[in-house]
Amino acid sequence: MRPIAFFDSGIGGLSVLAAAKELLPGERFVYYGDNRRAPYGERTAVEIFDYTVECVLELMHLDIKALVLACNTATSVTVETLRSRLEIPVISMEPAIKPAFAMRKKGRVAVMATPATLDQPRFLNLLQRFDPKRSALLLPCSDLVGLIEEGDFEAPKIEACIEEVFTPHVGAAIDAVVLGCTHFVLVEETVQRVCQSLFPGAKTVHGNEGTVRHLAHVLGQRGLLGEGAGEGGVEFYSSGDANRLRDIFLRIAGAKTRT
Ligand code: DGL
Repeated sequence: MRPIAFFDSGIGGLSVLAAAKELLPGERFVYYGDNRRAPYGERTAVEIFDYTVECVLELMHLDIKALVLACNTATSVTVETLRSRLEIPVISMEPAIKPAFAMRKKGRVAVMATPATLDQPRFLNLLQRFDPKRSALLLPCSDLVGLIEEGDFEAPKIEACIEEVFTPHVGAAIDAVVLGCTHFVLVEETVQRVCQSLFPGAKTVHGNEGTVRHLAHVLGQRGLLGEGAGEGGVEFYSSGDANRLRDIFLRIAGAKTRT
């Protein structure tokens, strides 16, 4: 059975892979984290493009049947080119702006994402569709991805970093907080805790489950859904330190590690 590939700059895409394993337990998965070069979010668009394409070409050697860009940052720079060049389906992520505006009451939507994602025309066009008056609070989170890459999601410095992002906005009424980076889904509980205390009633939202449902739909349409019963398995590849990453990977998505 040909595998479905997931790509992220690091460990963030594991949050999407974990959702995919739930929905599609009979599939085989491969995961590639470019951990050595993460975070991507402060890199130039040219770097993000080159690194992503390089990693995707590695994945193509594994005879994958679909590619999930489990990274908002890589999506915003590469998805059009990859779709035009690859014959397999390319499923991508985008910040959950649409559901966030659907959840909104009288307050604002806050969007946590990498600086690179927030700068890209792809994101700005998406925002324009749902927020033409530009009411959303855009929060470029520079240091958070690097801290999450360290693997201790309960570390006090992660909570402190999230507090630092939101504290300047205390007093604003926020209804929905978009986790516009797959890394942030790994610390969703902490984001929720901080936001609940600063903006009572605020709720987090992300696109992982929606992306995975879309993946299943596209595979079904193209006759590519796996026939396997039960555990299809996952293989993990990384440009980083496999020994350090193995535990983190097992904890989030349960699989053997290979570099
Ligand atoms: N996980 C990523 C995203 O969804 C990228 C984080 C980074 O490397 O800066 O945007």
